[in-house]
Amino acid sequence: MATVSISTIFTFLTIFTLPCVAHSVGVNWGTMASHPLPPPKVVELLKSNKINKVKLFDANPYVLQALSGSNIGVTVGIPNNFLRNLNSSNKAADSWVHDNVTRYISNGGSNTRIEYVAVGDEPFLKSYGEQFQPFTIGAAMNIQAALKKANLDRKVKVVVPCSFDSFELGTNLSAEVHFRPDLNKTMIELLTFLNEHGSPFFVTISPFMTLQTKNISLDFSLFKETARPHNFSHKIYKNSFDLSYDTVVTVLSEVGFPHIDIVVAKIGWPTDGAVNASSNLAEIFMKGLMTHIHSNLGTPLRPRHPPLETYIFSLLDEDQRSIDSGNFERHWGLFTFDGQAKYHVDLGQGSVSLVNAQNVEYLSSRWCVVNNNKDLFNASGNALEACLNADCTAISPGGSCFNISWPTNISYAFNSYYQEHNQSAESCDFAGLGLITTVDPSTDRCRFRIEINTSHAKFYRVYYFHWMILLLTTLEMASIIV
Ligand SMILES: *[C@@H]1O[C@H](CO)[C@@H](O)[C@H](O)[C@H]1NC(C)=O
Ligand SMILES: *[C@@H]1O[C@H](CO)[C@@H](O)[C@H](O)[C@H]1NC(C)=O
Ligand SMILES: *[C@@H]1O[C@H](CO)[C@@H](O)[C@H](O)[C@H]1NC(C)=O
Ligand SMILES: *[C@@H]1O[C@H](CO)[C@@H](O)[C@H](O)[C@H]1NC(C)=O
Ligand SMILES: *[C@@H]1O[C@H](CO)[C@@H](O)[C@H](O)[C@H]1NC(C)=O
Ligand SMILES: *[C@@H]1O[C@H](CO)[C@@H](O)[C@H](O)[C@H]1NC(C)=O
Ligand SMILES: *[C@@H]1O[C@H](CO)[C@@H](O)[C@H](O)[C@H]1NC(C)=O
Ligand SMILES: *[C@@H]1O[C@H](CO)[C@@H](O)[C@H](O)[C@H]1NC(C)=O
Ligand SMILES: *[C@@H]1O[C@H](CO)[C@@H](O)[C@H](O)[C@H]1NC(C)=O
Ligand SMILES: *[C@@H]1O[C@H](CO)[C@@H](O)[C@H](O)[C@H]1NC(C)=O
Ligand SMILES: *[C@@H]1O[C@H](CO)[C@@H](O)[C@H](O)[C@H]1NC(C)=O
Ligand SMILES: *[C@@H]1O[C@H](CO)[C@@H](O)[C@H](O)[C@H]1NC(C)=O
Repeated sequence: MATVSISTIFTFLTIFTLPCVAHSVGVNWGTMASHPLPPPKVVELLKSNKINKVKLFDANPYVLQALSGSNIGVTVGIPNNFLRNLNSSNKAADSWVHDNVTRYISNGGSNTRIEYVAVGDEPFLKSYGEQFQPFTIGAAMNIQAALKKANLDRKVKVVVPCSFDSFELGTNLSAEVHFRPDLNKTMIELLTFLNEHGSPFFVTISPFMTLQTKNISLDFSLFKETARPHNFSHKIYKNSFDLSYDTVVTVLSEVGFPHIDIVVAKIGWPTDGAVNASSNLAEIFMKGLMTHIHSNLGTPLRPRHPPLETYIFSLLDEDQRSIDSGNFERHWGLFTFDGQAKYHVDLGQGSVSLVNAQNVEYLSSRWCVVNNNKDLFNASGNALEACLNADCTAISPGGSCFNISWPTNISYAFNSYYQEHNQSAESCDFAGLGLITTVDPSTDRCRFRIEINTSHAKFYRVYYFHWMILLLTTLEMASIIV
């Protein structure tokens, strides 16, 4: 009798404590950097941190080649400017799939494990207006059809990453929620398409952006137990993540898709370039998020049903991301541009510390600073000009180098420009005001970077590899003809 009830309880517990599907945590890997860490180094970094899912924004051949044989699940991306053509031409969709998916999957033993094709990169972002809306669903349908023709539609799902501003929620958080009115029709088409093919809904959740726009506290954003709760939809919310997630669930339910799987396609906290963007706060946020995801508690509207997958935004800092929405945009990385951990967090793979990229090859230990022996009356003009090109987000208000004094901030700008231009002597001229030094001007809080040496031969092996395949194929065909 006792045995029966214990096993019944056990079964009960098993059913109700295991999630319906295994949750997993991946990262977004963007490459908008002047000196990107070489793809093989990034793959090593992923492996040493046991990260087994990665979401890309394009289908860069060097990146896909570096991922081959790694068993890392990959989302390849289609840039927004491809959408028009992919909507209007089946042929274009067929060749996109052939060139950027099929080729890597049927690459013998060392294939790349492509799981999703992301059609567009947040094509419905409010700031794009209706630029991409008319083409997105048509492009997704054509890509789906192309995958089916290639017999890959069971293996590879087609998704469309949606931005956090696809939804509208009143500033007082208790008003009615809905899709942005201009998007309502497109979103319903998208959901119908996803549902038909068993694909999940990819959406960005951004507690950092919500903090900027809604009347909520930092503690609520950072998963602090002591945060003042908010009411929404007759439930009580203790953190910003749950509130945003359930906003999505509510809207999806309202339009008839209450059970569709949700993937959090981008979530993170920046570390520089704005008030409240710091490594300390990012660490608190990320630890809170990971604890929450791995607890399997889910949210008030989807209890015990956490997101299918969660992709951290982002793996690395990118010094060429657009700063239209803020200087923090270049500082979303868990790691700095050169693969060094900014803080530590257990991503759920069992290690408390993140592992840094190893044997990164830098340019020489040289910096460009302002020459204090010169007349510096026009130095600021030169610095401003340097900053048009180079990344000066750290010396902007709220940045980690904002309070370094004049003219050290001028040196910061000069050095950014100099590194971005591969330390060429001409790039440290600044009308005679620049001086090359071997003394590191960095302080505790403000790092004067040295760029990565990207002219390394290893980086170009992939080129060589592709040329060899082409050459061998041509020779083979020639011999058949002969
Ligand atoms: C999308 O493609 C379809 C099929 O070719 C075409 O009929 C439609 O006009 C295209 N949409 C737009 C907005 O161009
Ligand atoms: C993907 O395929 C298209 C069509 O063949 C091609 O133009 C494009 O360069 C490929 N690569 C990327 C990164 O999109
Ligand atoms: C929230 O805002 C809406 C409209 O802005 C208003 O009608 C509603 O009364 C507000 N609710 C609360 C609880 O303040
Ligand atoms: C969105 O479309 C659905 C279905 O057509 C409709 O019921 C709903 O009222 C629309 N919502 C908005 C905000 O336009
Ligand atoms: C913001 O929230 C606080 C705390 O609940 C409240 O006192 C204040 O009135 C709210 N401000 C606005 C503009 O809604
Ligand atoms: C929030 O909900 C709780 C319980 O449902 C209720 O007691 C409380 O008054 C609500 N607070 C507000 C501000 O509506
Ligand atoms: C930053 O955080 C503080 C609390 O530490 C908060 O009062 C402030 O509103 C936040 N500012 C922004 C812009 O997020
Ligand atoms: C960068 O790498 C190239 C190729 O390996 C090498 O020739 C060059 O000396 C390196 N530059 C520096 C500054 O180390
Ligand atoms: C100051 O520097 C700017 C940018 O280099 C330059 O265009 C301008 O002519 C300089 N002004 C003077 C007075 O030297
Ligand atoms: C800059 O600000 C940080 C923290 O706010 C402080 O620790 C540091 O001493 C400041 N540096 C200077 C040069 O004022
Ligand atoms: C450097 O600091 C000075 C004094 O705080 C300021 O006026 C100037 O705009 C700063 N320059 C740059 C490029 O940030
Ligand atoms: C820096 O060097 C890399 C590798 O040689 C090159 O691809 C890049 O264009 C160079 N950047 C500049 C600004 O010269």
